[in-house]
Amino acid sequence: MTTLTPTGNLRAGDAVGDVPSATVPTGLPDADAIARLANAFFSTLPGNVAPEQGTSAIGGLPSAWPAAVPVLSTVTNPAPAGSPLAGPGGTGTGVPGASLPAGRVPGANLLPSAPTHVLALGNRAPALTPHAAAQTGVPDNVATIAPALEPRVGGAALGVPPQTRSPAVATEGPAAASAASDSAAPSAPYYFIGAPEHGWQRPAQDIVVPSGALAPQSFGLPAEDDLRSLLSIHRFKPGVEPHRQAPANVPYFLDGEHAALRSHGAGSAVPAAHPPFDVNAIRRDFPILRERVNGKQLVWFDNAATTQKPQAVIDRLAYFYAHENSNIHRAAHALAGRATDAYENARAIAQRFIGAGSPDEIVFVRGTTEAINLIAKTWGVCNVGEGDEIVVSHLEHHANIVPWQQLAAQTGAILRVIPVDDSGQVLLDEYRKLLSSRTKIVAVTQVSNALGTVVPVREIVELAHRAGAKALVDGAQSVSHMRVDVQALDADFFVFSGHKIFGPTGIGVVYGKRAVLDDMPPWQGGGNMIADVTFERTVFQPPPNRFEAGTGNIADAVGLGAALEYVERIGIENIGRYEHDLLEYATSRLAPVPGVRLVGTARDKASVLSFVLKGYETEEVGRALNEEGIAVRSGHHCAQPILRRFGLEATVRPSLAFYNTCDEVDAMVSVIRHLSARRA
Ligand code: ALA
Repeated sequence: MTTLTPTGNLRAGDAVGDVPSATVPTGLPDADAIARLANAFFSTLPGNVAPEQGTSAIGGLPSAWPAAVPVLSTVTNPAPAGSPLAGPGGTGTGVPGASLPAGRVPGANLLPSAPTHVLALGNRAPALTPHAAAQTGVPDNVATIAPALEPRVGGAALGVPPQTRSPAVATEGPAAASAASDSAAPSAPYYFIGAPEHGWQRPAQDIVVPSGALAPQSFGLPAEDDLRSLLSIHRFKPGVEPHRQAPANVPYFLDGEHAALRSHGAGSAVPAAHPPFDVNAIRRDFPILRERVNGKQLVWFDNAATTQKPQAVIDRLAYFYAHENSNIHRAAHALAGRATDAYENARAIAQRFIGAGSPDEIVFVRGTTEAINLIAKTWGVCNVGEGDEIVVSHLEHHANIVPWQQLAAQTGAILRVIPVDDSGQVLLDEYRKLLSSRTKIVAVTQVSNALGTVVPVREIVELAHRAGAKALVDGAQSVSHMRVDVQALDADFFVFSGHKIFGPTGIGVVYGKRAVLDDMPPWQGGGNMIADVTFERTVFQPPPNRFEAGTGNIADAVGLGAALEYVERIGIENIGRYEHDLLEYATSRLAPVPGVRLVGTARDKASVLSFVLKGYETEEVGRALNEEGIAVRSGHHCAQPILRRFGLEATVRPSLAFYNTCDEVDAMVSVIRHLSARRA
């Protein structure tokens, strides 16, 4: 016999099937009464207008809360016949002997138990829209709800102060912008959309970057402008996706008087398809680049470990905590609406940035490691069994090895590894031979964090699909360097970390195709991921909320959105071109240094320049560089298998970003040359 503890908790081992009905509360209002209460409440909200006053662009929502239109339909027998939820009256639990609390129907807790809770539903509505069945076999939607409670209209639905404001006011800073936030009507469902002049989006401060510390002339090299000129004249292919070129008003591109920089040789102007990149303008956006380390200006060449943050991201985080901070999806107050809108807006930005079909395909997690663990421990556990095969490449970061090893150990599956050639590129022919009907998933990095190899993931995904397997692409090292279009890639999963793309740490993304996510059970359980909980069973939210248990990293998701928008403003293709040429330049400077062995020489590379120096431990090289203010990673880079493939336990790994310069490369090479001259 099950007994309830004094607090009403079931004890471990208790059978849930025979909860004594006498212990459940009775006398609560029924769903009809709840709906009537809610409608009565809405009719009292200020600003209500008759429905004929117009419809907004937001999914046909009335432009203000319609007093005359009931917003909640009455729940009648919401459990489909035959569903485990359906009792004799269609509202039972289906659990023998376990009646629901009187007056409650499954999903009735989605309806307001008090009028104010109705408002919160404006933020929770993902649970209330039609979606696939949860893994419990229970339909997600046990209540029908009016479209007025469609998801992610929190600010509008909550009556959060609209954010339309004049640019003049907004440019005076966050406080002024906030003070101006209590007037006018919202133009979009999100608190911020349509209000680009927020304080945190003000033009970057004019940060003075000390000059001269790294003058290339002191190394007998041309000045940086000349180097930039050299870099900008080759490889730029005209006619590539002109719509993705930087907008004319973005101040990161040289034109006009600087156009002469594009000429090369004896005055012969080489037509450039893209304006040269003004790296000094970019650098002014990153305050940390003014730091001095050991008396020298910081050179940040550890971008593969983490990237630095532009002022736009720093400001956005500060703005969130100064003006919006609240838990999300959960309350009727104004800040809950602001925070929810900011968070969901970040999801929409991430969707756009990687070309996903829907924001529901974007799950926020802590980072790439958590992302892959989530997939292995949900999709993997359900779909990989004994004798099945998981394919990874030799290049993988430990985060894309260990979770699969754990899964293999748990299920009896086998891990297969795509070998690489001596340049560090995967061998596609060998990969083909690994594929069979036993292959369940292929998980590969798009760019190697240890070698910089750009892996042909599109072909790898296609071949995986032909074998009937799913494909996961680890974008941790690619997403900040090249355009990612998950639909063009056709990857089932794409994962990345915010901190490697100029966003905060502790936030990352799992992209999953909607149909794949729909079929995945949750990983962690708790708040936010549920639609309805009784002691007998839980109905889960549809994706993405199903995978976001508990209070997530709200502010940093918002910061990630700001980082992605920052990258969008500059243009990822522009970034990729500049970095490519900088990497070529760095390679050409470093390779000839006596004693230097480059590790990873694939034709297609991004950002990374791994090497060892004869006569030196990698840590010694790292320390010598640090003495000059130059930060590189030395060690195994969480990718021991690929280093061992090259007979090494560690390398020195400078990794570049678009705020690095030829001057900085020269400063690094100068230190290496100096070391080399001593021992190599
Ligand atoms: N994955 C990060 C790196 O490559 C930490 O350094």
